[in-house]
Amino acid sequence: MTKLKPGIRIIRKGELRYLAGSGGRPMQFKPWLGDCFSFLYDFLMSKSVFPGKIGGDLQKHYSVLARELAGVHGRRILELGTGSGSAVNFLHSDNEYVGTDISPGLLKRAAKRFLRAGFPAPEFYVASGDDLPFETGGFNLCLCILSLNFIGKVEKVFQEVHRLLISGGMFVCSVPVPERNRLRSTIRGVLHSEKELGGMCRESGFTFEPLPCDNGALLYFRATKQD
Ligand SMILES: C[S@@+](CC[C@H](N)C(=O)[O-])C[C@H]1O[C@@H](n2cnc3c(N)ncnc32)[C@H](O)[C@@H]1O
Repeated sequence: MTKLKPGIRIIRKGELRYLAGSGGRPMQFKPWLGDCFSFLYDFLMSKSVFPGKIGGDLQKHYSVLARELAGVHGRRILELGTGSGSAVNFLHSDNEYVGTDISPGLLKRAAKRFLRAGFPAPEFYVASGDDLPFETGGFNLCLCILSLNFIGKVEKVFQEVHRLLISGGMFVCSVPVPERNRLRSTIRGVLHSEKELGGMCRESGFTFEPLPCDNGALLYFRATKQD
């Protein structure tokens, strides 16, 4: 099991791990809108959100991430905002995977998909991406796919990812940015421009490299933790 920060207690329910809050009860988070209809989540992403909001192509999205992560084997991978587990579409199953999300309904779906895909002992934590229960420096790679705009303050997320990655570890992210939103659709959450994201990344101790991909409103970038 992933090493936890001192003082953290975990309550396990099925495949999900909850943080113990006051009175020893599992900590719950304000439900994200997707959790109410988690059974419809994948259908809505492919039929409505990708074409209608993002103006992009879901298969292209998986292809660009699969290409970026093609050489990643036998690594410890942390994902922020796992959702229903779409990362099975672009990660090799010989990696050690730890998923985190505030939505238990989506995480339960993710757990089934990762187990079915053959990942060895994947772990799933109900936790917020800007305040994670793990010990410092336990991961080689962190992913945040279509979730950064929903997770609190982006600066805090970068600092947390920096804390959790080993030196030289990589952060791979896909996030909508306002200047690519050609459909002028309403995209939920807080959007930052590529320039702002690059600045925050560098200030947190990462390099920042946008990946060459035109897919609707999405920016794909790779950030590497500097020594
Ligand atoms: C659009 S979905 C993306 C899910 C998945 N990565 C994908 O590509 O399909 C956004 C996800 O962010 C999660 N989320 C929202 N706020 C969060 C927070 N503070 N910490 C972690 N995850 C959060 C939601 O529950 C949801 O699963």
